[in-house]
Amino acid sequence: MKEQKKKKIFPDDFQWGVATSAFQLEGSPYADWATWDPALSKNPRITDHYTLYREDLKLLKELGVNAYRFSVEWSRIQPREYNWDEEAIAHYQEIIDILRSYHIEPMVTLHHFTHPRWFMEHHPWHRMASIEKFLRYTEMMVSTLKGVKYWITFNEPYVILLGGYLEGCTPPGLRDVPRSLIALKNIFTCHGKAYDIIHRYVPDAQVSVAHNMSVFAPWKKWNPFDRVLKKTANYFYNHSIIHAFKTGIFIVKFPFSRPTEIEVPIKDKLDFFGINYYTRIHLRFNPLKKMGVELRHMDIDGHGLTNMGWEIHPRGLEKVLRYASRLNLPLIITENGIASHDTEEKVKYMKKHIDVVEKCLRDGLNVKGYYYWTLIDNYEWLQGLDARFGLYRVDFTTLERTPTYAATYYAYLIQSRSDM
Ligand code: GAL
Repeated sequence: MKEQKKKKIFPDDFQWGVATSAFQLEGSPYADWATWDPALSKNPRITDHYTLYREDLKLLKELGVNAYRFSVEWSRIQPREYNWDEEAIAHYQEIIDILRSYHIEPMVTLHHFTHPRWFMEHHPWHRMASIEKFLRYTEMMVSTLKGVKYWITFNEPYVILLGGYLEGCTPPGLRDVPRSLIALKNIFTCHGKAYDIIHRYVPDAQVSVAHNMSVFAPWKKWNPFDRVLKKTANYFYNHSIIHAFKTGIFIVKFPFSRPTEIEVPIKDKLDFFGINYYTRIHLRFNPLKKMGVELRHMDIDGHGLTNMGWEIHPRGLEKVLRYASRLNLPLIITENGIASHDTEEKVKYMKKHIDVVEKCLRDGLNVKGYYYWTLIDNYEWLQGLDARFGLYRVDFTTLERTPTYAATYYAYLIQSRSDM
């Protein structure tokens, strides 16, 4: 009898990648964020990836990844409302061509938090015109960029809303629940329509959002208020988007009140589901805090906290993957990583999370890729230049890139897991 071929745990087409975003590497003089954070005026080109991209792409080759997620910077492509910059488009096309020549699959994010300044000034997300503006940009990108199959329309749509419309810590800096719901509907509408536009130009396209998922826990297990908060947060953050993609209905649910339903045209507008996973969050009811919620990261299992103060909680990755499996779609971990000055910590974080992916694959979950965040140290939205998420360390004065042991280790992991 013929010996049966052992099934591979990580399939041959598993995407081993790293993820980046344009603004965090290269800044942009035309972006809303460039003026939003005054500290950026000292270092507007950040890592100067816009000039050094060829060298940086070589690092991908060194790592042995077969996929790379990056974003195109809308504000460079459309610096003024009626002006498209062909050189900027050609620049991103060159990146795609280089990736292809290295046999690295590009995954392009259209929107990763930043906007052209004119957009935020005149057509922010709570205005109807935002839809048309974003879709024109989408069509321009999809009709001109060649060689891209994987598209992310929005990076972390909920984080855009939480930061820009509820916390007010990111552009447009509002704290306005009614407007946040209009913005949500407009962003979802853009996703649904962008999905169709992308498929019109690229029939075999694979389109998703990259949704930030977290695990929530009550601060004090015995406290019924903390437990209600945990449930509410979990419903909103992890479940409501899955429900909306399955049904076209977004449900707003607050404790002790009747849910509101908002129609959003995104039913089945997904080919895979992109998940960004970093941490677990403990919640406490505190009437003195905004909306009665206080968040905290606690080192419960002894894995430690990252430089961002986030709890390292690898098991949470399994939880969110199981949760997202309800979509019955391929799942791709579009971001996972750690801010740390300590390379050993980085290696441990990576290994523990990839072990979880392996377990999930053994259990039959449909996970198709893992993208480490991120390639080189970059600008972190609220923390600036000190967060150190990179596999390669960047000296922000000389702009020199130096591999950390985490880069060597990731290359090793990719090799060894691909052979398993
Ligand atoms: C994600 C975001 C990235 C990066 C990362 C680390 O939420 O998409 O841009 O900043 O967090 O904080």
